[in-house]
Amino acid sequence: MKSPTATPAQAVQADYKTAADLAAVLPLTAAVSDAGHLTIAGIDMVTLAREVGTAVYVMDVLHIRTQLQDYRRWMSYHWDDIDVIYAGKAFLSRSMARLVADCDCSLDVSSGGELAIALAAGFPAARIYSHGNNKTTTELIECLDAGVGHIVVDSFEELQRISDLASERDQQQAVLLRVTPGIEADTHDYIRTGAEDSKFGFGLNQGLALSAVKRALELPGIIYDGLHMHIGSQIYALNSFAAAIEVMADFMLHIREELGADTAILNTGGGLGVAYGVPDDPASIKDYGKVVVDGIKEACELRGLKTPRIAVEPGRSVVANAGVTLYTVGTIKEIPGIRTYVSVDGGMTDNIRTSLYQAHYEAFIANKADQPRTVTATIAGKHCESGDIVVSDGPLQPARVGDILCVPATGAYCQSMSSNYNKQVRPGVIWVENETWRWVVRRETYDDLLSCDVG
Ligand code: LLP
Repeated sequence: MKSPTATPAQAVQADYKTAADLAAVLPLTAAVSDAGHLTIAGIDMVTLAREVGTAVYVMDVLHIRTQLQDYRRWMSYHWDDIDVIYAGKAFLSRSMARLVADCDCSLDVSSGGELAIALAAGFPAARIYSHGNNKTTTELIECLDAGVGHIVVDSFEELQRISDLASERDQQQAVLLRVTPGIEADTHDYIRTGAEDSKFGFGLNQGLALSAVKRALELPGIIYDGLHMHIGSQIYALNSFAAAIEVMADFMLHIREELGADTAILNTGGGLGVAYGVPDDPASIKDYGKVVVDGIKEACELRGLKTPRIAVEPGRSVVANAGVTLYTVGTIKEIPGIRTYVSVDGGMTDNIRTSLYQAHYEAFIANKADQPRTVTATIAGKHCESGDIVVSDGPLQPARVGDILCVPATGAYCQSMSSNYNKQVRPGVIWVENETWRWVVRRETYDDLLSCDVG
């Protein structure tokens, strides 16, 4: 965990940027009002924050919809048999599941809990892909009960378990097999998943993945429908995907030659990176779609294979920049010559990413959004850890107690990874669209905290 060291605060300079200069990390409909306040979908974020209380996550519905539609548009531009599967682990609620269905996308669930939310939203089970390197027997039964379209199988034990359960019930379950293509994606170690040394999936070395396909073809109750890979998350270098696709195409050929089987679906996982900071320059969905779809089509043609249905599984790039977190500044501590701590009413319980991955975020004062960031400050949380930092030494407008502080790009992996540490109640999630707002997840209460405490 990276806690701020006692380097002079001046190490990071004020950058004189206003919120208008931070568009790359903000939701599509973000703007600055005449009063100098941040607005999203035409709603004044300062007024909203003061009305509903902080901390609170706010998400721009148009932004989420645009990202999902862009994925569908740019994937189908190159090939018509595609599936865009939103990865619910980035952020999931019933409204989110319904929006995914409205956009004609499928859904990746990675636990029984995510499946339960999807089903409660009425999400069509046939369009669900169930994931996880150790799905419990209960979770597998829940998948079979619901009739999920695909289970993405991670291990021989799981394959056997699904076969046993499906056979007992006289069901046929379609599966994809998760393969680790041995590609070292250029990202943080904790979110890199496609390398040979990984807890996920079947490795290609020692013929494990081929044996898995053979087993899937033989076992009763199992329909082998294709392959899955996921090389990691927050990836900027599209050539990591291109390299993994070549490996997968070689494997598809191997399956054809050795087992005489076709691979109907190739799911290349998620992973497209997003901008967290102003200088970040991730690849576009358009370029990503071209690399994935053209890459697979060309690789298949070259090997004389039928081009499969091409599926991608984006999470972060759909929701990250749709969301912001609004906090209220509670205390300000200036340590002369060292740094200024601006403490907010949240922290590592609503955004663990800074302490877990040394993630970088921008921050600005939502009620001074038109003013330049002329000072350097560390945004600290309210929890009992020195590592409870949201932004280390970043540029900020001069802060006053009571200001509303905005941290952009918190729509992915913040609410979904939030915790009740220090018995903090988790913030709610507000969706804004066309000048209206509504809660999609309400803020927790102390009663919620006590509801599982049975005495
Ligand atoms: N498919 C599978 C099988 C995955 O494991 C993941 C993410 C995705 C799709 C979606 O990947 P995305 O498009 O979001 O990169 N908590 C970390 C990220 C962990 C990602 C886990 N798997 C973070 O906050 O950076």
